[in-house]
Amino acid sequence: MDLQLQGKRALVTGSSSGIGAAIAQVLAREGAPVVVHGRNRARAEQVASEIARKGGQVKVAIGDLTDDAQAMAVAQAADAAFGGIDILINNAGGAAGKQQQDWLGTTSEVWAATYQANVISAVRLIRYFIPQMKQRGWGRIIQLASASATQPLPFSLPDYQASKAAVVNLTVGLSKFLGGSGVTVNTITPGTILTPALERTFRDWARARNWGDDWEEVERRAVAEMFPNPSGRVGRVEDIANMAAFIASPLAGYVNGANIRVDGGRVPTIN
Ligand SMILES: NC(=O)c1ccc[n+]([C@@H]2O[C@H](COP(=O)([O-])OP(=O)(O)OC[C@H]3O[C@@H](n4cnc5c(N)ncnc54)[C@H](OP(=O)(O)O)[C@@H]3O)[C@@H](O)[C@H]2O)c1
Repeated sequence: MDLQLQGKRALVTGSSSGIGAAIAQVLAREGAPVVVHGRNRARAEQVASEIARKGGQVKVAIGDLTDDAQAMAVAQAADAAFGGIDILINNAGGAAGKQQQDWLGTTSEVWAATYQANVISAVRLIRYFIPQMKQRGWGRIIQLASASATQPLPFSLPDYQASKAAVVNLTVGLSKFLGGSGVTVNTITPGTILTPALERTFRDWARARNWGDDWEEVERRAVAEMFPNPSGRVGRVEDIANMAAFIASPLAGYVNGANIRVDGGRVPTIN
């Protein structure tokens, strides 16, 4: 299928690693000029050179999106890279506190930092790029949320879970605000996706539980015991990237205000 992404200019935030890097790679492979972004220049440059080596058009923008001035610098650099941005993928984010931090261990400072990282970071770029997308009558804005946005767990990261729910909410509100403009706004909700950080966590669990070193066995046990889902595996970054490429494409013009689960069927309810 031709996704008709040739020449559509994309900024993928947090594409110096993990899911974002895969999204940037897939968009570039489909012919979209891509701006790779992160805070770590060396990692961003590495992703960009890999894309360039495969023939993609790519530039790099560096900056911490929790800071107004740095976010503005990122937006301006991305805007200048190819003369505008048609596709904004707000993927950068994560939890500001420590993993397994519970309600009482999460201070108001951590709550504020997590909202900065996951919500206001995205809002800064959305506010910058909306006018030009509206003027062109075409645009795509995609946020990355988390299964915990709609299925919060009681024991860890309440700030992260709630901030991702805010992302789902702002997506729907924004899609209505932009009604009739040609700009669609959607959320992708990943399940558990294999990144280097997740592999380290699984291997730590495996050592503690004597599961051995064989990765296939480690993944099988971790999925069965921690993240059961009918697909029987954790997701790969490409699972998310392929969905992002479709939602970003002109073919997805009738997908708007949606929260699209890519989680192997993990959700226990019908939606
Ligand atoms: N992996 C999963 O299982 C999973 C599941 C559900 C949702 N998600 C969501 O998917 C997105 C990507 O996750 P991932 O696992 O691929 O994460 P990751 O490998 O840790 O990558 C996070 C990216 O975001 C960037 N970033 C983080 N905070 C930033 C900030 N304040 N300013 C600018 N850049 C910032 C990082 O940049 P630098 O490294 O260059 O600093 C990095 O490129 C996140 O929003 C995450 O919450 C992931």
